[in-house]
Amino acid sequence: MPLFPEHVIQEVAAKNDIYDVVSQYVTLKKTGGSYVGLCPFHNEKTPSFSVSPQRGIFHCFGCGVGGTVITFLMKIENLSFTEAVQELAKRANISLPEPKGYDREAAQARERERNLLMEINREAAQHFYESVKNSKQAVEYLKARGLSGADAKRFWLGYAKDSWDDLFHHLKAKGFTEGDINRAGLLASNDNGRVYDRFRNRIMFPIFDTRNQIIGFGGRVLDDSKPKYLNSPESVLFSKSRNLFSLNIALASRRDTVLLVEGYMDVIALAKAGYPNTVATLGTALTAEQAGMLKRYFKEVVLCYDSDGAGQTATERAIGILRDAGVGASVLTLDGGKDPDEYIKKYGIDRFNVRFRERRADMAYLIGQFGEKYDLTNTQERVAYVSALIPFFIKIANDVELDVYVRMLSERAHVSAEAIYSQLGKDRKTQVRQTEKQGPSPEALQRKWTSDVLDRARDTLLGLLIASKGIYLRHKEELSADLFGEEGGRARLFEAVTTAYQAGETIDEKALCLRFADEENNPASRVLSQENRFDDAEKAFGELTNTIHAQLREKKIKRALESGDLEELNQLLKGV
Ligand code: CTP
Ligand code: MN
Repeated sequence: MPLFPEHVIQEVAAKNDIYDVVSQYVTLKKTGGSYVGLCPFHNEKTPSFSVSPQRGIFHCFGCGVGGTVITFLMKIENLSFTEAVQELAKRANISLPEPKGYDREAAQARERERNLLMEINREAAQHFYESVKNSKQAVEYLKARGLSGADAKRFWLGYAKDSWDDLFHHLKAKGFTEGDINRAGLLASNDNGRVYDRFRNRIMFPIFDTRNQIIGFGGRVLDDSKPKYLNSPESVLFSKSRNLFSLNIALASRRDTVLLVEGYMDVIALAKAGYPNTVATLGTALTAEQAGMLKRYFKEVVLCYDSDGAGQTATERAIGILRDAGVGASVLTLDGGKDPDEYIKKYGIDRFNVRFRERRADMAYLIGQFGEKYDLTNTQERVAYVSALIPFFIKIANDVELDVYVRMLSERAHVSAEAIYSQLGKDRKTQVRQTEKQGPSPEALQRKWTSDVLDRARDTLLGLLIASKGIYLRHKEELSADLFGEEGGRARLFEAVTTAYQAGETIDEKALCLRFADEENNPASRVLSQENRFDDAEKAFGELTNTIHAQLREKKIKRALESGDLEELNQLLKGV
């Protein structure tokens, strides 16, 4: 990796505590010397994502992704190696020398591709923006929705003409190829292979990332036709689950709170009304990744969803997700108006400001909201009411906070606080039992990756060799790569260890993890994340190599039996 000098990369990794960085995205719980949490890189309900602050590495035993703080940032923010190093250097106030050459061709190509797609998007946005002026109906539509030229400028609002190839032609004239434009998500094609503009006759909302780059678009029809909104497809640039509409503007407002609404129009209406700190999801429900981003940038998330049934359900769901991410949430309810945009138009901003001030903490909102759904004069309904709230109470981590809400619920439901606590105790246990059913524990996952005794012993032996150069030097004659097999990157990890030791070096664990970070299952972070203690290294070495040899022999015998190779079998059995 000659891009930055090795010592600079080491400094960047050393000065950015992996726990600090990861916990901005993932809620981590301590287990022994390391931490575990729900992996942000695959869907899971039981934590198998492990972070070791001492080693400065992470590994997910579920999906196999692992590496250092640099790898983590690359994957979670979709950055190249260079970008991640630059970002972390900034975070730790380290000044970087100019990057010299490029390290990995793939990373370089990816960065070029992302830059190209961003350039195409920017050109498209510019073209959409210009097109508004020439379209009477677009101007009229924006006006009818209360938007001025200044609003269009601020949000880069535009218009995609009612044409099959207006944008296609424009971008080709600018020198982009059909393939480029297609990869930017701006084209669609029919069964006959005819290619045409994806967005036609729509008001265009560019979607920016936190660095003010256009990563995609949302487009709204001007009438009642369907679909009402069309978004750019997922690409290397655009991910609906990892971005939020107007997050760039919300960040620039430098406020502690952020309003989360359902629609693009709601964001714009609120920004105009003095809430530039408003974001919206991109046509999907709130994800854990988005909750993690909000946690990173804001102290409080104010949920401000539509006041209809769907909005209420979405609010309850979002509260759960935000609680899981450890974000403080509150709920702003709109009386009478459907969504924030309509509410402000109908009642004015002053009344909205009152609603904002009267927003309630997430749990207080739920206790009130669920209280309306049940007849609390009826005993059975009171029980159902409390039961419905228990799943949310379980997520409250702070005991004082828990007590406040248990008391609130106790009063409302006419149930003793003790009874609620005792129910909670039970349900916490049931929840534990349920999660056991849902998925294996981290230890079990660890066992799963190394399902057979052989691979487990191989991983442990690799861990031992990394931990002890002495063991390696004393036993190197007994060791060879084929002891570790083809699978799971073990043989290559062994070679890397050997090479370092032969060269008289010690093992740099982080460098080792970085080196294998592109692997589907990073062998270095996997081996290093297993907390093995070798009290007696010599004894451990003996046991592990015995296990491996015995297992290998067993396998060979099995194979000889299956293939009926008696000679081989005899040979093997003689060697007892
Ligand atoms: N949405 C979408 N695809 C659809 C409908 C909606 O992606 N077919 C997303 C858009 O991000 C939209 C949000 O869901 O902004 C909310 O949808 P909706 O409540 O239907 O629209 P409004 O935001 O109220 O839009 P408008 O006021 O323009 O009707
Ligand atoms: Mn609306």
